[in-house]
Amino acid sequence: MPGIALVGTQWGDEGKGKVTDLLAGTVDLVVRYQGGNNAGHTIVVEGERYALHLVPTGVLYPHCIPVIGPGVVVNPQVLLEEVDTLEGRGIDTSRLLLSGNAHLIMPYHLELDRVTERRLGKNRLGTTKRGIGPAYADKATRVGLRVQDLLDPKIFSAKLEVALKEKNLLLTRVYGRLPLEPKEIEEEYLSYGERLKPFIADTALAVQKALDSGRTVLFEGAQATMLDLDHGTYPFVTSSNPVAGGACAGAGIGPRDIDQIIGIAKAYCTRVGAGPFPSEADPTDAEVMVEVGAEYGTTTGRKRRCGWYDAVAGRFAARLNTLTELVITKLDVLSAFETVKVCVAYEFEGERYEEMPPHQTIFNKCRPVYEEVPGWKEDISDARALEDLPKETRSYIDLLEQVVGKPISWLSVGPARDQIVRLAAE
Ligand code: GDP
Ligand code: IMO
Ligand code: MG
Repeated sequence: MPGIALVGTQWGDEGKGKVTDLLAGTVDLVVRYQGGNNAGHTIVVEGERYALHLVPTGVLYPHCIPVIGPGVVVNPQVLLEEVDTLEGRGIDTSRLLLSGNAHLIMPYHLELDRVTERRLGKNRLGTTKRGIGPAYADKATRVGLRVQDLLDPKIFSAKLEVALKEKNLLLTRVYGRLPLEPKEIEEEYLSYGERLKPFIADTALAVQKALDSGRTVLFEGAQATMLDLDHGTYPFVTSSNPVAGGACAGAGIGPRDIDQIIGIAKAYCTRVGAGPFPSEADPTDAEVMVEVGAEYGTTTGRKRRCGWYDAVAGRFAARLNTLTELVITKLDVLSAFETVKVCVAYEFEGERYEEMPPHQTIFNKCRPVYEEVPGWKEDISDARALEDLPKETRSYIDLLEQVVGKPISWLSVGPARDQIVRLAAE
């Protein structure tokens, strides 16, 4: 299976980092294709915890080449800090490849993300304030600066001047902020460029060559299907395409290069930031999920909103990503409950919706239809085979498989690399 895409099927933080890390043991390249340092992917290896925001998860294995593709937006300061932190912990980052076509997150993007959120007040999206939306907006309006511009000071300076002229007007006249100094930004960014130079490459070509020679490439999604700019709960979404199709444009490959598409889902559901969430649990149950599942954001530290598994969203993600299989994570967290609920459909004004409602208003106002099944009230974190799991846990997994309509290949029962139950040959 040379091309594998791994995508989130909910609202992010499904445990993509953990599963990518598991797969990375046997793949040659791990490629990030969208998003930026709004992502936070946590990996726990031999008691050591790594929180990666930009560097692809494969970096932890010496045989694996981590690639940041053209579709990613890169804050060079954050990238270099991450590289330094990894090096400081004895991880070799010299194999990292960074696309020259990737767009840069600039200081004014961070500032604009902050001020627009403030201005939206109670209507704010609850972004990660990492400058993601403004950076992608500049890319779309073709005034963005790219990683390759760092290698040409003249071009960099000219493009920055054009961009800053407009941004400073916006910051000073609309938002009442101080203007930003081009010289300061230029000096700072060109010095990042010096350090990033050895990593900059034609990553799309490198990935294609790897695929052509039969090497295995894993495309590591960030964010998730329900946060997708085109398919998620707009406007409460991120500004890129985390769906599997996004891997093609964002990494620079064709659709026929992807052979396997793995969807990651928590055994329940979480969401950070604002926006509709039909299966959000009542405060008592949500608090149990937060405490047992340590549901605090890897990037912002915000408490995640928690709810029950949403099979309507699950089916939606299965279809949009053409999933070949599903991996269920954090199953151990549900051990805390006497009974476990699955949202199998939505209801609005007497009508039942088995599929995602076509109109956002319905999704906003619908109520969940639950199927409630017995819990297992037993620690399952040491399970390593299906036989180790209580029959109630196995019934729950059967139910998920049935309501989503995709085979489940792995179950994760704890944050560590070895806390995994393999159900089928992957
Ligand atoms: P990602 O953004 O999809 O990579 O997910 P995050 O890393 O943001 O959030 C998932 C959190 O759950 C991290 O703290 C992981 O260490 C943790 N985690 C992953 N799988 C499991 C699991 O099966 N059980 C438990 N209890 N924690 C897990
Ligand atoms: P990983 O890869 C969870 C959410 C934010 C906000 C919305 C828009 O770790 O799963 P943005 O800063 O992207 O403009 O914010 O998207 N969000 C995430 N939620 N996990 C993530 O990444 C997220 N990245 C962005 O909370 O609601
Ligand atoms: Mg995360």
